[in-house]
Amino acid sequence: MWCNMKGTLMCVLVFITSVVCEVRVDPLVLVSSQGLVRGHKASDGDYSLFLGIPYAQIDPEDPFGPASDPAVFKEIIYNAIDGTVQCPQMTNEHESADNEALDCLRLNIYVPFKASVAKPLPVLVWFHGGGFARGSAGEYGVSNLVKHDVVVVTVNYRLGPYGFMCLDIPTVPGNQGLKDQYTALNWIKNHIGSFGGNPYNLTIAGQDAGATSVLLHLFSSNDRLFQKAIVESGTPQSEGMFVNSDVNAAIKIAGHLGFNTTDTQEAIKFLTTTPHDLVTAAAYELDLQLKPCKERSFSGIKNFVETDPFSLTNTRKVSRTSVLIGYTSLERDSLSSDYFDSDPFVTKLQNNFNLAGDELERAARMVRRFYIGDHAVSKDVINELEQFESDFGHNHPTERVITQLLEENANVIYEYLFNYVGDSGAKGAGHSAELNYLFNMQNVVPRRSEADQVIVDRITTLWTNFVKYGNPSPRGATDLIPVEWTPVTTEMRPSLVIDSDIRMEGRVYKERMAFWDLFYSMYGDLSKLSRDCSNSPYMCC
Ligand SMILES: *[C@@H]1O[C@H](CO)[C@@H](O)[C@H](O)[C@H]1NC(C)=O
Ligand SMILES: *[C@@H]1O[C@H](CO)[C@@H](O)[C@H](O)[C@H]1NC(C)=O
Repeated sequence: MWCNMKGTLMCVLVFITSVVCEVRVDPLVLVSSQGLVRGHKASDGDYSLFLGIPYAQIDPEDPFGPASDPAVFKEIIYNAIDGTVQCPQMTNEHESADNEALDCLRLNIYVPFKASVAKPLPVLVWFHGGGFARGSAGEYGVSNLVKHDVVVVTVNYRLGPYGFMCLDIPTVPGNQGLKDQYTALNWIKNHIGSFGGNPYNLTIAGQDAGATSVLLHLFSSNDRLFQKAIVESGTPQSEGMFVNSDVNAAIKIAGHLGFNTTDTQEAIKFLTTTPHDLVTAAAYELDLQLKPCKERSFSGIKNFVETDPFSLTNTRKVSRTSVLIGYTSLERDSLSSDYFDSDPFVTKLQNNFNLAGDELERAARMVRRFYIGDHAVSKDVINELEQFESDFGHNHPTERVITQLLEENANVIYEYLFNYVGDSGAKGAGHSAELNYLFNMQNVVPRRSEADQVIVDRITTLWTNFVKYGNPSPRGATDLIPVEWTPVTTEMRPSLVIDSDIRMEGRVYKERMAFWDLFYSMYGDLSKLSRDCSNSPYMCC
């Protein structure tokens, strides 16, 4: 069953292996142009794992530049048993883990036993979160998803200084990490059939930075290598997900490491010979915001992101892609202790809009009164402040993107609000809360109550139905999910509220969202990200 036409020889191999070792037959797959891959069987379900398959390679002489095709395996059979390799993480160097490597462009494939080359299953490709600075493919246990008969692929991509420096030079124009993801999608399209996945039934999905990535793939002018998209708690307009290019980033990092130069090429040359943990630690200490950016164009170089996040457009792709999108009920639930020291309303607007002086004061007053009335900024109004942070950072950006998708003739959009907190006593579901039900997250011991297990069953059923049929509730209400999830239209914006009592709700947070709709109709043009900064070497204003 692991064979295709090209792999007739492999059928023989698999056959021989199975005769010789009757106890345990590890699946063997031929990846054309790379070689044979051996996976193994899962201990927690009826599926096989192929971990750490290289889908591209980074040039050690130019780790900031484009990746190239993966090398042919050195071994006769590549043992795909290590899914823990991570791209260099942008943390301080003391936290740098042994499994971090520059050679990190790998993916993990999880295949239900039921899949075969003759009867391939739909594919879910997961891009991890972590603010484009941290995270890896190996953090996600997928047994609850694969049991619904979908193939799952999780993908590493370059992060921080290696993935997201935007230097306005042809070799490092920006968004290398997104281009890695696109390379991975191409690999998956070409090879997933040999693993029993259907390359024409493919959903890209992600959370946080992964969700932002999904939307950037949807809007990019590259080929559409997917049919459906899942977007969880992240958009290019969400706070901290998109930046104006910092063309001096390489110079700053080199300088921080003791190499003084004003020449970006010199800096790059220095950083290439510097151990990666020092480079990422320097970027971390400098608090550089290395994220997706609008790239400068160079002849012969294909851009990934060509506009600011407010101007993204691709009607042709959007109108053919089904989208499942949403957020959690309390995206920002941990305000730091110094949060209350300054006026968060002024700070927020100052950081995000070209507003100053009286105009800034006036706008900030309006927002302050909306959220906390005449109260002073203090812990007494922490709930309201958390709402403000969640609305500004995530909720309204998601609603804006939905509007943008509708204007682009969206195919079909299903919106959700995740509000389940179980017996945690939390006021609302925080950022990433839903991941604990979709996946078995690494380092989280899944101690699930019966009620928690119902959420697992519901969310994995809804998500995989969407992956399979482009509709999370294709048969309407069922025993497990007693509501039909109806899509958003230009007139109506229903959300599925995922909670102990699962239900449909019309236009969630409607007053708060209407407030920000009005705010953006007044000040949207002044957003620091919507301004065309292409001719300025520095961040606008
Ligand atoms: C780099 O420049 C700074 C100030 O511009 C100076 O203090 C420092 O000594 C220089 N370092 C080296 C290694 O030249
Ligand atoms: C995708 O897979 C599902 C379930 O296997 C199937 O019903 C559907 O027709 C497939 N869609 C396409 C476009 O192949």
